[in-house]
Formats: sequence, structure tokens, C-alpha cells
Amino acid sequence: MSHQLLQGKRGIIFGALDPNSIAWKTAMRVHEEGGVFVLTNAPIAMRMGQINDLAAATQSTIIPCDATSEEDLHQLVTQAVEILGGKLDFVLHSIGMSVNVRKGKAYTDENYDFTAKGWDVSALSFHKVMQTLYKQDAMNEWGSIVALTYMAAQRTFPDYNDMADNKAYLESVARSFGYFFGKEKKVRVNTISQSPTPTTAGQGVKGFDGFISYAEKMSPLGNATALDCANYTVSLFSDLTRKVTMQNLFHDGGFSNTGVSQEVIEYFSK
Ligand SMILES: NC(=O)c1ccc[n+]([C@@H]2O[C@H](COP(=O)([O-])OP(=O)(O)OC[C@H]3O[C@@H](n4cnc5c(N)ncnc54)[C@H](O)[C@@H]3O)[C@@H](O)[C@H]2O)c1
Repeated sequence: MSHQLLQGKRGIIFGALDPNSIAWKTAMRVHEEGGVFVLTNAPIAMRMGQINDLAAATQSTIIPCDATSEEDLHQLVTQAVEILGGKLDFVLHSIGMSVNVRKGKAYTDENYDFTAKGWDVSALSFHKVMQTLYKQDAMNEWGSIVALTYMAAQRTFPDYNDMADNKAYLESVARSFGYFFGKEKKVRVNTISQSPTPTTAGQGVKGFDGFISYAEKMSPLGNATALDCANYTVSLFSDLTRKVTMQNLFHDGGFSNTGVSQEVIEYFSK
């Protein structure tokens, strides 16, 4: 299914770790739609992941970058513009990691060094990415920047832990930076609030299997898959959504507006 919606567009895609990654699926779809891009991930993830396969499949260059490092980001943006032959039209921030979750620390027993690290990687990095692009004037007019988030920013999901706070911050950064990017450079900034999705980051959340099954039963259209998310992202990178900015866009099969579903009622009526 290709409509060449991104023909002639250039960008950067952060966060493709393996074929389950939302960023991986997005890179494949962007490639099919005619977009060209640089792939990037943290140096450590490069060693563990399979990003070389994705680069070969999409004819892209890989530039390692720790998204918490301003120096790395500066290098990445400079090189991406050089390699791609001009300013950028799209950027995907698909990055998340909580050290507290990884180390099994409960929300009521946080290690604040872990909290600070997770916030830097998952939330502040989005500001750092945009500030780098902004200062280097690396985005074309009507460009589009997207980050991924989860509804735990609005409603409590106990096992989502400190990632809930990180996502709330991330969504706020999208609105705040979206104002300046829109006003001064005609660039749009949005977050996509995605259904639970079986990826490395997703499966790190305690009780993920119960979590994803519950969401499936609560969503009139069923959970949105990683491929669905990639398609939605393509639409946000395209010229068809030029006036959509500073939004948190729920992409969850209707979960966020469902009070209860028939399936869940039946389960509890047994
Ligand atoms: N999987 C879900 O259920 C789900 C639901 C809603 C939102 N999201 C969000 O989607 C995004 C992508 O996650 P995913 O589910 O595809 O999992 P994933 O594990 O495939 O991707 C997370 C990526 O973040 C990268 N990363 C971690 N630290 C980094 C750093 N310092 N610098 C650069 N990159 C770094 C990892 O290497 C990895 O590629 C995340 O923001 C996640 O929170 C996921």
C-alpha cells in the first residue's frame, strides 16, 4: 500500500531496535511512501539490536546518538542534513526507558537517580531533540515532528510507574515547543498516544499481558498495532495534516473514550 505521500521528504527516525519496534515499522512505511531518512539509536542499542538490517532494507545511513547528549544530537542533525542533501521534513522520537521499571522499583519506592535518568531519556530528550533542530534551523517549513506517548499521562495505570510522569512531561513539551516551532518556523509538533504494543519497551512493563488483553477488550476497534501506528505517523508526516499541531492524538481503537465494553461487563457478570 503506497501512495508516495512522502515523496521528496527527508527526516530522522529515532528508536528502531528490532522488527517489533514502532520506529522500525514506521521506517519501513516511510520508505514505502518515498521518504528518505537517517536512522539513529543509542550506541548501546546498536550493538544489541538489528538496525543494520533495517538500514539495508530502507537504503538508509545509521548515525549513533544518545538522545540525552546535546553533543551527539548536534552531530546527528548536522550529518543528517549533509547526508540527505537538505533540511528535514520529518522527525520521529520513539524513545522510552525507565530505570525504576527495569530494576523492579515500585512507584512508592523510587530511586531518584533512576527517576532522573529515565526522565532524561524518555521526556527531556524530546526537548533536546527539538532545541537542536530549532537552533540549527534544520527543519523545512511545514515539517512535522512526532513523539510517542501513552494514556498513563492522563489516567493512572499503576504498573506504568514513573513512565506515566515522563509521558505527561513529554506531552507538555510537545505543546510548548509546538508553539514556538509553529510560530517561527511553520513546523508542527504532535504526540501519538498509542495502544499497548508488544515491543521490548512495552513488554518491560509489569503485567503487560493482562494490560494488553484488557485494552483489546475495551477498545471498540481493538488495539492499534505497531503497523497501524506507523501508518498514522505517515499521515502526520504528510502534507495532508499541515494544520495539526500541539496535539496529543489518541491512537487506540477508541479505548480512551470507552467507559466500559460489553465484553468487560460479561466478564464480571459471570
Ligand atoms: N509498546 C507500547 O506498549 C507503547 C505504547 C505507547 C507508547 N509507546 C512508546 O513508543 C516509543 C517506542 O517504544 P517501542 O514500544 O517501540 O519499544 P522499543 O523498545 O522498540 O523502542 C524504544 C527505543 O528507545 C531507545 N532508547 C533508549 N534509550 C535511548 C537513548 N538514550 N537515546 C536514544 N534512544 C534510546 C531504545 O534503544 C529503543 O530503540 C516509546 O516512547 C514508548 O514509550 C509504547
